Amino acid sequence: MKDLYLQHIATRQRTTEAALAAANFDGLVIQSGAPFTYHADDQDAPFRTTPHFAHWCPLEGPFHLLYIRPGHKPRLVRVAPEDYWYEQAPLGAPFWAEAFDIVEAPDVNQAWERLGVARHAAYIGDEPKSAEAHGILSDALNPEALIKRLDWERATKSAYEVACLEDAETKAARGHHAARQRFLSGGSELEVHHAYTQAVGCIDRELPYETIVCLDEKGAILHYCGKRAGVQGKVLLIDAGAKTLGYGSDITRTWCAPQADPRFAALLCDMDALQLAICARVRPGMPYLDLHHAAHVLLGDLLKKHGILQLGGEEAVQQGLTAPFFPHGLGHFLGIQVHDVGGRQKTPEGGVVPPPRQYPYLRTTRTIEEGHVFTIEPGLYFIEMLLRPFRSGAKAQLFNWTLIDALASHGGIRIEDNLLVTKDGHRNLTRPKI
Ligand code: GLY
Ligand code: MN
Ligand code: MN
Repeated sequence: MKDLYLQHIATRQRTTEAALAAANFDGLVIQSGAPFTYHADDQDAPFRTTPHFAHWCPLEGPFHLLYIRPGHKPRLVRVAPEDYWYEQAPLGAPFWAEAFDIVEAPDVNQAWERLGVARHAAYIGDEPKSAEAHGILSDALNPEALIKRLDWERATKSAYEVACLEDAETKAARGHHAARQRFLSGGSELEVHHAYTQAVGCIDRELPYETIVCLDEKGAILHYCGKRAGVQGKVLLIDAGAKTLGYGSDITRTWCAPQADPRFAALLCDMDALQLAICARVRPGMPYLDLHHAAHVLLGDLLKKHGILQLGGEEAVQQGLTAPFFPHGLGHFLGIQVHDVGGRQKTPEGGVVPPPRQYPYLRTTRTIEEGHVFTIEPGLYFIEMLLRPFRSGAKAQLFNWTLIDALASHGGIRIEDNLLVTKDGHRNLTRPKI
């Protein structure tokens, strides 16, 4: 891991130097972040490191400062207060330490002093006022042109980042196996969630995002956050990941219990095949939008095959008939952030490629390149608020409402894998583990 990490840092140094030169700065200060205290309370939200800091350094906790300059080893000022309220463990000798010139400071003000920052450095972080007070110029605070270049680079994962993501897949796979077993033995959403975190070996705030554990009809709520106790189900949709050194996996599986309607179980089987068929198309040079559109076309065919729609394929898509069943994007970049940056970015300099009006929620409009990591997560849901407009009017007879109403209590299906784009195709990081 250490060798991969040092290569990763060498790449960060090179790409950051180029970005600094293009944006006319002579250095970059990145702050790990300040805690967010709830309004009128004395409690903080779970701390999340500034993603640009995490891209360089897996050190956790607030207020640390990193100073990157061309031709110098990056300086890391670790804020390590004396404190008896919270544990302040010593740094020890983590594998990543030798990449930095490490200094310690008891608080954020002294951290700035020990950073020794030059006046033409840029600052990235959530305390721009404090940065300005410590000598950063106002037009160097979170400068968009620099951040766009860094965000663009973040889409291409180094071998170190892929290793972190693979480990996060392994952990999440343990959780998904345990969750499935708990579901099949009659577990509630709460019990399935606990089985998941127990098997991953973490507490909730260490997850990359809150688990989505849906029994039956709750599967039709895309970001359902409930955790019902005492309720058993015939279908489990679980969307849950795990984290390694700041990098998160994002995996969804849908499972049927024996009491599920066999027509829904057949849909699930074909959705799994559809998801794999889309994965099989992934290769560099292809616009991600083409995959998303292909998923809708295949979904149209699937809905026709199962007697839910009377039209299939392109025709169903053109008439807007697949949209209510699959109302989210096929996937998104993945890395430090679950919905990682840069998915709609046009060039390293910035700009946006908006999704077509037909697919407003598609987060990824960029052309696929080697080294990208993203999710492929087609869905098929029975969402009444989206189906309702079709229940009357000219298109109503194209839907089998009796079948839809019979299956609605099963919620929906989503199958989500994490893919690394390779030189001539892709590697599915999830499937070998689940
Ligand atoms: N877990 C959120 C998503 O799949 O995008
Ligand atoms: Mn996802
Ligand atoms: Mn997900």
